[in-house]
Amino acid sequence: MEGILFPKGVVEGREGLKEYQARGGYEALAKALKGSPEEVIQVVSDAGLRGHGGAGFPTGKKWQFTREAPEQPRYLVMNGGEDEPGSRKDRVLLENLPHLVIEGAVLGAFAIGAGKAYLYINAKYETAIKSINDALSEAKAAGYWGEKILGSNYDLDFEIIAAPHNYVAGEDTAVLEVIEGRKPQPRQKPPFPVTVGLFGKPTSVNNVETLANVPRIMLKGADWYRGFGTKDCPGTMLFSLNETEDVNTPGIYELPFGTPMRHLIENCGGGMKDGKKIKAIMPASPSSAYLPADKIDTPLDPNAMRDAGSMLGCGVVHIVREGDSIVDELVRITEFFAAESCAQCPACQMETKSLAMLMKRVQQKQGNQAMLDQFGKLLAFNKGKGFCNLIAMPGPPIESALKLFPADFQALLPNA
Ligand SMILES: Cc1cc2nc3c(=O)[nH]c(=O)nc-3n(C[C@H](O)[C@H](O)[C@H](O)COP(=O)(O)O)c2cc1C
Ligand code: SF4
Repeated sequence: MEGILFPKGVVEGREGLKEYQARGGYEALAKALKGSPEEVIQVVSDAGLRGHGGAGFPTGKKWQFTREAPEQPRYLVMNGGEDEPGSRKDRVLLENLPHLVIEGAVLGAFAIGAGKAYLYINAKYETAIKSINDALSEAKAAGYWGEKILGSNYDLDFEIIAAPHNYVAGEDTAVLEVIEGRKPQPRQKPPFPVTVGLFGKPTSVNNVETLANVPRIMLKGADWYRGFGTKDCPGTMLFSLNETEDVNTPGIYELPFGTPMRHLIENCGGGMKDGKKIKAIMPASPSSAYLPADKIDTPLDPNAMRDAGSMLGCGVVHIVREGDSIVDELVRITEFFAAESCAQCPACQMETKSLAMLMKRVQQKQGNQAMLDQFGKLLAFNKGKGFCNLIAMPGPPIESALKLFPADFQALLPNA
């Protein structure tokens, strides 16, 4: 099926300005500049575009809140922090479709009335930073950003910011801290960035993939976009299937929301390597609940995933093979969160470290039933006590694993 971000005719590898123009590139911008910012917000809202950075907040609403905030100036921030294990969808867009991303950012900035946009990109993505830098030069020379864009009265300046490569540096308020020159530490919310954001001013933080959807929506219209995906969740998403040991053809696949997960794993991913069977699937690695193998037909959309007991997040689908130890998995996951906690909230630092320590003891056969009960107690006690959602992230994997695979834990208890 033809995609939105990767329709037929997109060249393989990096798309230059001429190739992008040849398939209608920057026509959406020219069209938008002839109308009003409110019209851009309306079309994006009618299309039902939701954020692709994990939380799924409606983009039109976010832009409207930012535009309606009384303070000036306003800022647009593109979030390309991407440091989630297994995720590289934003990297692929930044490296290969830099003009699509830039056009989306100009349209977003125009919609909210920003005169400056920051492109925040993971510092380890050197090729992506170069690709965006080169595309910015080409686009500026062609009049797509800078002063009086395409002869209009709209001016926009861009700045690239290299993001520190740690996971929490992608949280939207941590992004703002970094741009302001401080450590990547999330802020307490509210206030939300749409009212008090960068330098205390209204700011819209949008994921790379979210912005990349905007030019095509503006060019083809809301109804066209709604032809993809489901009624409640229109459009497509880039899914990452890249744990090389699991499937035959790992990669990044653009699929309409609502596609059965089986299609991603069996058709796109070519099925399991060496005919291995699936033990469990984590649809939003590393922080979602595991689903048992018989839920493989669950549609890839946020509502269906919630009904099945998990979530879609930003589409890093991880598979656990039959025979793999779920406790080994959880040791990796809890150690990841303990290492990534920025430690400014005592509850988060204590909880993530304790979970990792307890899980390691279970793995080393030093656990007991009381220790297994302790996981749920620790998670419940610390619920909502952090500035950001990282404190809650180890919960779904641990709690679903204890429920689905109790034998894996019991087998490791002394006297088992
Ligand atoms: C620990 C943590 C890490 C995050 N990392 C990213 C990231 O790398 N990229 C991203 O776009 N959003 C990330 N988010 C979500 C952002 O806070 C924010 O919701 C998103 O950038 C908004 O863009 P969207 O509305 O386009 O989805 C992260 C959130 C948390 C709690
Ligand atoms: S919850 Fe954890 S990661 Fe988030 S701000 Fe607090 S200490 Fe940092």
